[in-house]
Amino acid sequence: MKAWWKDCVVYQIYPRSFYDSNGDGIGDLRGIIEKLDYLQDLGVDVLWLNPVYRSPNDDNGYDISDYYRIMDEFGTMDDWEELLEEVHARGMKLIMDLVVNHTSDEHTWFIESRKSKDNPYRDYYIWRPGKDGKEPNNWRSIFSGSAWQYDETTGEYYLHLFSKKQPDLNWENEKVRKEVYNMMTWWLDKGIDGFRMDVINMISKVPGLPDAPNRAGERYVDGGQYYINGPRIHEFLQEMNEKVLSKYDIMTVGEMPGVSVEDGKLYTNPERKELHMIFNFDHMDVDSGPGGKWDLKPLHLPKLKKIMAKWQTGLHGVGWNSLYFNNHDQPRSVSRFGNDQKYRVTSAKMLATSLHFLQGTPYIFQGEEIGMTNVRFDSIDDYRDVETWNLYKEKIAEGVPEEKIMEAIYVKGRDNARTPMQWDSTENAGFTTGTPWIKVNPNYKEINVEAALADQNSIYYYYKKLIQLRKTNPLIVHGDFTLIDGENRRVFAYLRTYQNEKLLVVTNWSNDQLEFRLPDFINFHPGQILIANYDDANLNLEKTITLRPWEAIVYKGK
Ligand code: NOJ
Repeated sequence: MKAWWKDCVVYQIYPRSFYDSNGDGIGDLRGIIEKLDYLQDLGVDVLWLNPVYRSPNDDNGYDISDYYRIMDEFGTMDDWEELLEEVHARGMKLIMDLVVNHTSDEHTWFIESRKSKDNPYRDYYIWRPGKDGKEPNNWRSIFSGSAWQYDETTGEYYLHLFSKKQPDLNWENEKVRKEVYNMMTWWLDKGIDGFRMDVINMISKVPGLPDAPNRAGERYVDGGQYYINGPRIHEFLQEMNEKVLSKYDIMTVGEMPGVSVEDGKLYTNPERKELHMIFNFDHMDVDSGPGGKWDLKPLHLPKLKKIMAKWQTGLHGVGWNSLYFNNHDQPRSVSRFGNDQKYRVTSAKMLATSLHFLQGTPYIFQGEEIGMTNVRFDSIDDYRDVETWNLYKEKIAEGVPEEKIMEAIYVKGRDNARTPMQWDSTENAGFTTGTPWIKVNPNYKEINVEAALADQNSIYYYYKKLIQLRKTNPLIVHGDFTLIDGENRRVFAYLRTYQNEKLLVVTNWSNDQLEFRLPDFINFHPGQILIANYDDANLNLEKTITLRPWEAIVYKGK
């Protein structure tokens, strides 16, 4: 089967916040159908939908109570079928989110499982008795607190790596694996084009579920080493591939926190028959301190470049990269790495340039193509994300000052990505005629799709051009990668080479005007400028070039 996904650009839709067609304040499937022409015009090839299955929405659909049904708020199965048809009619593809590390605690499997120790579904989940009157081990939940929840009915605890309404499935149980494979087959038979797999490298846990080393004497500790890339992970993925994936012409991307490039090769090398590509998190951790995501640290560009280069060269010719700076779990990249005030447009284009000329499949998260920014709500009550709430409650209880907690939420909170898509300058950004489930970013009057479409210099048209360039320049898809001047703290520059063509990408990651000189060992003769975010960029590379704030230039040459 041809690896068509290597030539594709994926657009990620967070359905809850995309477009509301019925005025209930929540985005829905018919809303997506209404906007398909917009996406087709942008030129993207594949749409990835965050979960749209039945769910009590403790974690916005990542807590699934029925894999075979559509969430009521999003519409019906008929709406979904129509969406798939309309996507295909426009020559695009659709991939679905596969969430099988855990279910909702409202899934019938779990409702049964918690009833008694000898219920046939007991072993679908991970139950353990307490130890010395405490939890079975000291693991911390990724959403704060213990990863275990005590259940009175049977007097045991169940494991939940995420919220307590997201019990982990027991992949050691063959019946669970069969159920999952059947469900995947059911969706694939409907004609979908692949899966994005939620935290899929966490499904195999180290037997015995040992305590994590606790050097700082904390109550709960990150137990990742016992469930990330666990002992049977490759076996499970190969089994899934053999029983399901290999039978369809689809694409697969596994979300994988905590993977090294070496792991990445194992997961994505086609010879091993696991997945096509993975989302790694190395570059998303660059601005976190030792305390994790909420421990804020400024970006050090050489570190980011080193990470990107390591993945580029590591997977070249072996596996395949996915390329992203944004998704529904991350703050908006223009606020995070760019300048979302004075240079919002220029820096958003620069960030896109530095990412889209790398090797791999690029992912665009809704709103990125119009430069949507982070949001600052005054009160915690305006936030909706369970991770954010849990953090807030935990830190308040620990006595951390509220301003400090809110500052971390402003910088890293997931709701930054989840405010409604800004369609126009009318009330609620044209997202809904009702009351939106989460407030709209107040900057929608200026930043919205309508304004972007009316301005030939907008970020939108820049993305459109980036997507077209990828389709007309095989070098972007196949070329190898050389990092230039890795220690430079403000410039990210690299060379791509394929057959006898080269691309030179030069991007300024700062508010400063600066001089950049191509090192002598780089042999490059520019022929043309493929794209640039200032309209009078300099083709002459003979000597030092002056880069203006956030300037990005891509040269094609020999
Ligand atoms: C990763 C998803 O991207 C995130 O949104 C979710 O909360 C967790 N996995 C748990 O499913």
